[in-house]
Formats: sequence, structure tokens, C-alpha cells
Amino acid sequence: MASITTRHFLQTAGTLVAGLVLAACSKQEPAASAPAAPAPAARIYVVGTDAAYAPFESQNEKGEIVGFDIEVVQAAAQQAGMDVKFLNTPWEGIFNSLGQGDRDLLVSAITITDERKQTMDFSTPYFDAQQLIAVKKDSKIAKFDELKNLKVGVQNGTTGDEVITKLQGKDSANVKRFESTPLALKELEGGGVDAVVADNGVVVHYVNNNVNAQFKTISDASFKAEQYGMAVKKGNADLLEKINKGLAAIKTDGSYDRIYAKYFGAAPAAPTAAASK
Ligand code: ARG
Repeated sequence: MASITTRHFLQTAGTLVAGLVLAACSKQEPAASAPAAPAPAARIYVVGTDAAYAPFESQNEKGEIVGFDIEVVQAAAQQAGMDVKFLNTPWEGIFNSLGQGDRDLLVSAITITDERKQTMDFSTPYFDAQQLIAVKKDSKIAKFDELKNLKVGVQNGTTGDEVITKLQGKDSANVKRFESTPLALKELEGGGVDAVVADNGVVVHYVNNNVNAQFKTISDASFKAEQYGMAVKKGNADLLEKINKGLAAIKTDGSYDRIYAKYFGAAPAAPTAAASK
């Protein structure tokens, strides 16, 4: 008797479940032909970054994109109520990706230059930088001018490329252009170039983390002060305003200084917030 009752119960339950499933399915039918207004999907801003530029942006062992720039964008985005996701984007095509709309924002230790300002818009500056020369420890090179007729490695299309191209002339065969700054530094290690010119933060980081490479650095008074900014497609005032608000907020609430100290050991000497161009 008990078993019959149980079987009966199961049959009834089964019919009920089947009915519910059918009901659920049929409920979706009309939705397809007359869709209810979908809940607005939270906009996710796609941030492009050339993640071969530690400590600003690089990939960790898990393949995650990490670094100073990443944390600054994350903190600023949070303040601005924006959702962001980062996509590794080779430097070579990085600026085009903005124009084509594949990326909304770029963060990549990008120096704000007058030339670049013609094709994209920049956030307020968030970091001060300068070129720095890396040579082998036993090198006799003492200043930038001495690189005039030597083989020099740079990352193609960077401000390091600009300064050395200016010194050697644009047709010089001695400027060796690499896809990434670490590749240029590897070449220096192997003796393929006499020097590398790149952003100070990246050169110092590489020298400190590759003691076997036996490099030393040389700064030169002729190098101009540079400032990093985040780039948006020209005319994207809405996103620029959001990101600038976020940046201003993290500069006031102490999170910018905290991130800075995490990567560079101390709070910035002069508040970047006050810097202008
Ligand atoms: N600051 C330099 C420039 O804007 C180099 C930046 C390279 N950044 C990178 N993630 N590879 O030209």
C-alpha cells in the first residue's frame, strides 16, 4: 500500500514537474515575439594595454594583467562608477584600436604628446616620466650625444624611438626598433645593441629584476619631462569626463598615493595632480 502511494505520489509529482517545465517554456515563447524591455546591461568599458611594460602593465604567471596603470584605472573607474575590463593590446596597433572602437580607453604608460593629441584625447596626467639610457655595466658611454653613431634599441613608435631618431636622423640604420621594450633590453643583454633608450620606470624595474644582465643606467639633461595620460577616441568627452573625475577622486582620497607607494616605494615627490600641460 505504502509503495503504491509513493508511486502515485511520484507520478503526480512527475506530471507536475513536466507541467511546470512546459509552463516555463511556453512562458518564454511570447517573450521572443514581444520582448519585454531588457534590463539595461551594465556598460563595460574595454581598456587596451600593452602588457609588456612592468611595472606599469604586465601579465603575471596566471596570465592576468597587473601593474600600476591597471590599479590606477581600476580605482578611478570604481570612483566614477564604471565597469572596466582590460585587453592585452600590442603597442603597434594600440592607437588604431581606439579609432576603430575596439577599445574605449587606453592605459599603457602613454606619454601625452602634441602629435598624439591631434588624433586622440588624453585624461589629466597621472604620472611623471623621463627617458633613461640602459647600457652594459662596463660600457664607456656617459651621455646621450655619444649614441649618435651607435646601435640603439628602442620600442617602435615610443618616445624613446622619437629622441634617438631625432639624434641619429630618421634614415639611420643604427636605430633598432623592437615590438616591445623587454625585447630591446634582451638585445642589449646579448650585445646586439650598444644601448637602449626607454621610459625610466621600466628601465629601472628591468635593471633591478635582471641583475644578471649587468646593466647600468644613464640619465641625460637633454631628456624632456614626460607625463602619462589615458587616451580615449577623439571627441569622447563623456568618457574623458568620467575618467578625469575618477582620477581626481583617487588623488584626493589617498588611493593614488597608496598605489604609487606600492609600486615605487614612496608617495610621488610632487603631486602629479598639480602638474599640467
Ligand atoms: N611612454 C612611452 C610612449 O608613450 C612608452 C610607452 C610604452 N608603453 C607600453 N605599454 N609599451 O611612447
